[in-house]
Amino acid sequence: MQDLPSKYLLTSALPYANGALHLGHFAGAYLPGDIYARFLRAMGKDVVWVCGSDEHGAAITIRAKKEGISPKEIIDKYHNLNKESFAQLGMSFDIYHRTSAELHHQTAQDFFLHMVEKGGEFDVQETEQYYDESMDQFLADRYIKGTCPKCSYDSAYGDQCENCGSDLSPTELINPVSILSENKPVLRKTKHWFFKLDKHSEWLKAYISEGKLDGKQHHDPQKWKKHVKGQCLSWLDELRPRAITRDLSWGIPVPLPDAEGKVFYVWFDAPIGYISATKQWATDNNKNWEDYWKNEDSQLVHFIGKDNIVFHCIVFPAMLKAHGDFNLPVNVPANQFLNFEGEKFSKSRNWGIEIHQYLEDFADFANKEDALRYALIRIMPENKDSDFKWDEFVDLHDNELVANLGNFINRVVVLTNKYFDGIVPAASENASNAISGIGKLMEEYAEEISNFNFRNGVSKFMEISSFGNTYLQDESPWSLYKAEPESPVIKDCINNCIQIVGILASLAEPFLPFSAKKISALLQIDQISIAQTFARLKEKREIINSGHQIGKPELLFAKINDPKDPTRMNLIEREKAKLLEIMKSALPDKENIKETITFDEFTKMDIRTAKVLTAEKVEKADKLLQLTVDLGIEKRTVVSGIAQHYKPEDLIGVEVLVLANLAPRKIRGVESKGMILMAENDKGELCLVSPSKPFGSGWVVR
Ligand code: 2FM
Ligand code: ZN
Repeated sequence: MQDLPSKYLLTSALPYANGALHLGHFAGAYLPGDIYARFLRAMGKDVVWVCGSDEHGAAITIRAKKEGISPKEIIDKYHNLNKESFAQLGMSFDIYHRTSAELHHQTAQDFFLHMVEKGGEFDVQETEQYYDESMDQFLADRYIKGTCPKCSYDSAYGDQCENCGSDLSPTELINPVSILSENKPVLRKTKHWFFKLDKHSEWLKAYISEGKLDGKQHHDPQKWKKHVKGQCLSWLDELRPRAITRDLSWGIPVPLPDAEGKVFYVWFDAPIGYISATKQWATDNNKNWEDYWKNEDSQLVHFIGKDNIVFHCIVFPAMLKAHGDFNLPVNVPANQFLNFEGEKFSKSRNWGIEIHQYLEDFADFANKEDALRYALIRIMPENKDSDFKWDEFVDLHDNELVANLGNFINRVVVLTNKYFDGIVPAASENASNAISGIGKLMEEYAEEISNFNFRNGVSKFMEISSFGNTYLQDESPWSLYKAEPESPVIKDCINNCIQIVGILASLAEPFLPFSAKKISALLQIDQISIAQTFARLKEKREIINSGHQIGKPELLFAKINDPKDPTRMNLIEREKAKLLEIMKSALPDKENIKETITFDEFTKMDIRTAKVLTAEKVEKADKLLQLTVDLGIEKRTVVSGIAQHYKPEDLIGVEVLVLANLAPRKIRGVESKGMILMAENDKGELCLVSPSKPFGSGWVVR
């Protein structure tokens, strides 16, 4: 493996303090940061990992309004909640700061003023912005909603469409409405500071595509993820000036005499939050923050989710360069999204699980922290979206963590106690040759982690454990023990196994810090750093010395799915039952009449009588029939999910009701134009809704 640089400044996206974080956030920007920070520290590197709450912007004030409390109450509540959840899951931030801190306000204002003084970075322009006359307020970003001009999603925000991910400005929205009053806004003139991002496009292109900065090789562009580079490159041709000020009262005041009533756009001050957090950490620890942000040998890495790529790879680097004297990121290993049981996490639908909720629900499960960490690392959305499923969570825990790692360590501790009263036996001179294959696995483990391939890294870690299991099984010292308990072969085997357990205790630290501690406690050793483990292996020294007394056997993990003790599986069943309830409540049923609609909305549906002319099964689809229906004015093909309730031949000539103006959809390769109306009973049986007497085709239902 290549030598790693010695100094790092790592950041994880500052989460908005307007809500609790869910597993998707955790897997996206925080767990990866923690793995990397722990790994580097254990490799003996000088690391500062900063994070904290992003406390400005419309997300906060809108939430405060919804809950009827002040923005300050909102940020305090969620800052503390998120900070606490992170701590419980072992996030080893060097500081968890907040952007409401005075130090941050000062830092952001100074950063801006320095850019102003340098000149040439901002355009001050008077533009027309939407204004809510009833609320007497300009409507920036999330204060305004409308239809996305790119994908027609009807609830796009003024700064972004959450459906297609497009970056928008409020004036691009079709049919904009104020989210404060639901009124149609008017346009009003106002002055703003625009950061001339377009001016930076040339060097940004070289920086992103070739890893070059100021004519020098800055980083290896091959090490950036493809999807990160791809997203950046699609932006670089279209850079335009971006307003970095807003007419709002919540935020950091723009420190210029002609900017009264204006604050910074939240995405201007938030990334500067990384700098102020480092300053606070340095003050608290008697260090110099500039060593990490300005020294050429310090490596800046941002951990984020894919929705933050443009801000971290283009906008913030441009701000840093425009300001001058700051390092730029050497990598931004953004993750894609994690879904939950097949669907996007959704607060409004209550779909997903927040991390504090997980910690509360699984409070009695001893391995809850590493069980979650392990599952999320194994399915981490490193290069494409992935899906968290409770069944897989149980499988990964029981079949990998318990059956492989836990089992190996347990067997070794039991045997060492049984054969040698827990004292590590001395091995013969070349005994360790039998396990020399582990050196290569360790190299690969370190290489994968240093390249942000955490899924591969954790697999290499588990391969070391599998190696141990196979080795122990192949040696089967218990067979020999009966005949020859003093055999040196047994001593060699147990010594080697103990060395492997020592290696696992050391290498578990980035991924499974709670287990790493427990394994070290079982071995009765202080935790060994990864650097030390590598060094001892290189010098052919033992990781755990012979003669050392280890602890008594104690199970490291217990299976979740254990028929003899269903307590843990019951927790999982409870989570699944909750989801079932949510799914059920989303379906209309007898008790839950859907939301009221207006008469106008009803009349938008064009329902007509029609006669079935032909009906046949759709290939390879048990439920579908392809029908031709006569609508009076025309014949239509409609695909309908009634194959299990009607035989095709029984449908010919039957009169049905068709929703005729439903947008055409392709179903199993067949274009379906319209929908046949049916009633469904509690058992899921379907019945066609037909006119009550022979009536004829094409009559309108109203
Ligand atoms: O998307 C978010 O949650 C933002 N609050 C991330 C900000 S990252 C950084 F710039 F602070
Ligand atoms: Zn869209």
